[in-house]
Amino acid sequence: MAKLSIIFILCSVVIVSSAVPAAEALKKGPKAVEKWFKKLPQAKEKLNKLHFYFHDTISGKNPTAVKVAESNITSQSPTFFGIVSIADDPLTVGPEPDSKIVGRAQGMYCLASLEELGLLMTFNFVFSDGE
Ligand SMILES: *[C@@H]1O[C@H](CO)[C@@H](O)[C@H](O)[C@H]1NC(C)=O
Repeated sequence: MAKLSIIFILCSVVIVSSAVPAAEALKKGPKAVEKWFKKLPQAKEKLNKLHFYFHDTISGKNPTAVKVAESNITSQSPTFFGIVSIADDPLTVGPEPDSKIVGRAQGMYCLASLEELGLLMTFNFVFSDGE
C-alpha cells in the first residue's frame, strides 16, 4: 500500500510539474504554448498522409447513409436544419465506387445551421487495408 501511495505521489508530481508550465505558457499566448509543447519529451511531431475516397450513398437500392431524425422545422428550412443521418460509408483507394475498400467511415452527420448548409460530422474512420 505504501509503495502504491509513493507511486501515486510521484505521478501527481509529474502531472503537476508539466501542468504548471502549461498554465504559464497559456497566460503568455499561443507562441509560448507552442514553445512549451515542443519541449515535451513525448511531443515528437509525426506526419501521416491519408489518401482515400469517401463514398456516401444516400439513395438507391443500397444506401450507406440513412436519415434517422429531423426537427419539426426541417421541412420549412432552406438549409434542411435538424436532419440527423447515420452512415457506414466505404473508404476506397480510387474514386470509383467499386475501387478497393481500405476502410469505413462510421458515424453521423447533422444539418446544423439555420442560415447556410452546415454539416456537423462525427465519424470513426476504421482502416482495414492500405499502407
Ligand atoms: C416545434 O416543436 C416545438 C416544441 O414542441 C413547438 O413549440 C413548435 O411550435 C413546433 N414548431 C412547428 C413549426 O411545428
